[in-house]
Amino acid sequence: MKLWGGRFTKETDKLVHNFNSSISFDQKFYLQDIRGSIAHVTMLAKQNILTQEEKETIINGLNDIRSDIENGTLTIDSSYEDIHSFIESKLIERIGESGKKLHTGRSRNDQVALDMKLYTRDELFEIDVLLNDLLNTLYQMMEKNLDTYMPGFTHLQKAQPITLAHHIGAYFEMFQRDRSRLKDIYQRMNYCPLGSGALAGTTYPLDRAYTARLLDFTDATQNSMDSVSDRDYLIEFLNSLSIIMMHLSRFSEEIILWNSNEYQFIEIDDGYSTGSSIMPQKKNPDIAELVRGKTGRVYGALLSLLTTMKGLPLAYNKDMQEDKELTFDAIDTVKGCLSLFNDMLKTIRFQKCNMEKSARCGFTNATDAADYLVKKGLPFRDAHGIIGQLVLLCIEKNCSLDELSLEEYRKISDVFEHDIYEAISLRTCVEKRNTMGAPGKEAMLKTLEIYKDYLSN
Ligand code: ARG
Repeated sequence: MKLWGGRFTKETDKLVHNFNSSISFDQKFYLQDIRGSIAHVTMLAKQNILTQEEKETIINGLNDIRSDIENGTLTIDSSYEDIHSFIESKLIERIGESGKKLHTGRSRNDQVALDMKLYTRDELFEIDVLLNDLLNTLYQMMEKNLDTYMPGFTHLQKAQPITLAHHIGAYFEMFQRDRSRLKDIYQRMNYCPLGSGALAGTTYPLDRAYTARLLDFTDATQNSMDSVSDRDYLIEFLNSLSIIMMHLSRFSEEIILWNSNEYQFIEIDDGYSTGSSIMPQKKNPDIAELVRGKTGRVYGALLSLLTTMKGLPLAYNKDMQEDKELTFDAIDTVKGCLSLFNDMLKTIRFQKCNMEKSARCGFTNATDAADYLVKKGLPFRDAHGIIGQLVLLCIEKNCSLDELSLEEYRKISDVFEHDIYEAISLRTCVEKRNTMGAPGKEAMLKTLEIYKDYLSN
């Protein structure tokens, strides 16, 4: 049953077969394998390496195999070494002699390089769509929350007031960059390795550029040794998947905090929460926790492949078979997380009163109070000191800056006048911040325009 049995006098040991075989996981790209083979024979016939009749017989056979796998009449059999051997053997079984010509001018090394690239490219597009869906959700949340005040944090300490729209906008930026990273990878990876043979090309007059076009590649790859042993694009892809997970994980962490009994900024829908087997009151944010937790798996895949590749001499080495399971797992993990996270996000109810109340305490307007003094002519460093003293006073009295009387203000500096209250109101603190990218409504409306344009392209 082995494609390469000719030179061997003995069957492979059963354990060796199991250790070596990849069919349990590379069957995932049977569609891409068939697509690549169809392009290959189409090119072989154009170059008169195969006859038109042989080409048609092979293509029909491959299409039948595909529909039989799809409708369940043909099961992928794990006694074969890999998906390539399985499909080729089935083809020969079904169409006879012309099936034996499929592999003319091809090696499994360029074949697997192609299949993995086609598979990754398809998945890259799907992940891009999921990111775009998430960006649409974020955009809608932003539109609805331009006036939803909340505290912004640094060091997880309340810093300055912002709006929910502004906070969500930060994630919009992150996921937008993730999309642009994918686009970048796509442009660099989109070159076809097929026709590179085992490592040194082939003596048949292949038209590699033609095969590349049939498979929607920009062109064929330039160096046959690199073609069969390049896994850079997978490393770049796993890197970008890791960054997507890092973003999802940070967002998850915030959702977990916001959903906690202490914050009470949000309520996650019952459909996206779970309970406790012992504590009847519990409603846990498991989806966000799992997304945060699964991030480690995707990082692991990146590190694992980098390590696999680091000592490999040119060209193909069997170590490279290790690229598959971990890449497939990372892809499936990211897709699952993106779509569930997006669905969960849509069901979240924001407890706007609590968010605003939280923004009002914790001295989030202290910078604005200092800026008030600067506008009245004091140097910023002095203003900072004065407001610091007032904050101390408030801590003593257990009140906020807005609750101090004008006398108390003037006891520390006679620059203060009644307009201090307007200057440090929550509304002023947010709405006056209109530098580009800031949370003030005027600035946010401009940002939303830009995002709207981006989403409609
Ligand atoms: N299963 C192999 C892989 O994933 C396919 C290529 C096999 N080539 C070889 N020379 N044994 O890398």
